[in-house]
Amino acid sequence: MSRLTPATTNSFPALASGAAPLDAASAPGNPCLLLQDWVHHILSIEAVEPMYVTLATASASGIPSSRTVQLLAVEDDALLFTTNFGSRKGVEMLETGRAAVSLYWRETAQSVNITGKIVIATDAENDRRFAEDSRPVQAARTVSFHGLPLEDEAAQLKAHGDLVASADIIPRPDYWRWYRLVPDAVTFWEGHPEALNRRVHYARGAAGWSHGAVQS
Ligand SMILES: Cc1cc2nc3c(=O)[nH]c(=O)nc-3n(C[C@H](O)[C@H](O)[C@H](O)COP(=O)(O)O)c2cc1C
Repeated sequence: MSRLTPATTNSFPALASGAAPLDAASAPGNPCLLLQDWVHHILSIEAVEPMYVTLATASASGIPSSRTVQLLAVEDDALLFTTNFGSRKGVEMLETGRAAVSLYWRETAQSVNITGKIVIATDAENDRRFAEDSRPVQAARTVSFHGLPLEDEAAQLKAHGDLVASADIIPRPDYWRWYRLVPDAVTFWEGHPEALNRRVHYARGAAGWSHGAVQS
């Protein structure tokens, strides 16, 4: 039986048709507007789960970690996601006030890397957004706490089922919150044949955003 092994040399995906080419000259001044355009396109072609992205954080002593989260929205000046305030990432975002997001879409050979500051939503917004979630999601967030040892999965499943079935409103656990990553640097990447990929880098300075093409 043959055994599949990953390639041991670099390969690069080439730009698939359909996406607007990355062009520093015509790119908007605000990178969030370009990301909105890219998200709009990737959703329009029904790509496979394009909104699951990698969120990286670091501890106060500089130890990095990363995980997948769902990108809920790209606003004009921020990326919105939700998580547990007491999770590793929650603790690290509180400690440093910073995070990074990376995404890669194979359907369009596009990638974006973003770093920036973290802003936690107000209690009122957190309550409003939690109330908009489905009961199973609300219940899951109530009976489960990221990172704690799972002592009794059957008991947790029962607690979840009981909560979903109950007639009571499920209150938001204080640890469940919404977060905004407010970018201060964004790099858009587009795959091209022959590995001559294209990149446009945005940096936020005192006078606002500047951007330009960079070698890849
Ligand atoms: C497809 C996918 C989507 C996920 N979405 C989220 C999310 O939106 N928010 C979240 O807190 N965790 C999400 N998770 C779970 C995280 O990857 C992670 O396991 C969890 O948040 C604990 O991370 P931490 O201990 O590093 O803080 C998702 C995982 C996957 C695989």
